[in-house]
Amino acid sequence: MNHILIIYHSQKGHTEQLAEACHKGALEESNIEVRIKKALDTTLDDILWANGVVVATPEYFGNMSGALKDFFDRTYYPAKGRGVNLPYALIVCCDNDGSGAERNVQSIATSYTLRKSLDTLNVKERDFQSGLDQAKDLGQMFAAGINMGIF
Ligand SMILES: Cc1cc2nc3c(=O)[nH]c(=O)nc-3n(C[C@H](O)[C@H](O)[C@H](O)COP(=O)(O)O)c2cc1C
Repeated sequence: MNHILIIYHSQKGHTEQLAEACHKGALEESNIEVRIKKALDTTLDDILWANGVVVATPEYFGNMSGALKDFFDRTYYPAKGRGVNLPYALIVCCDNDGSGAERNVQSIATSYTLRKSLDTLNVKERDFQSGLDQAKDLGQMFAAGINMGIF
């Protein structure tokens, strides 16, 4: 089995629903097991279990959510020590921008080390319904890529 970890933070529920749609999409592929976890509950063990990671965050003040940043901060040294090097995909949910959160995650991912494997999905709340479909597609594409070993 290949293992996909979906890490998310959400207050109003949009990002959580996008993470769940991504989960659903990933499970459309065979040979895939998914863990979906809130960023504050995600540990090094979850990362070590995974073959690939999907990160989903709201944009807060032009940045990723503090909870997601906390995850990266808590696990950075231990992950480095274990040689973590995984493909990842990113979902950003926001009102009107999202570019700052994308930039911040990409910058941290590079040193973490997570390799960007798909274009970032940026979902504005006003386009939320189509965003759910796109998040499901992203989950399926990510899982298919992991299964094919192309990331
Ligand atoms: C503290 C805070 C800061 C925010 N800053 C931004 C921002 O910089 N850019 C933006 O487009 N939306 C911003 N938003 C809006 C959220 O990103 C947006 O409502 C998002 O969909 C919330 O996701 P959630 O429903 O999963 O909590 C902010 C919201 C909060 C609560």
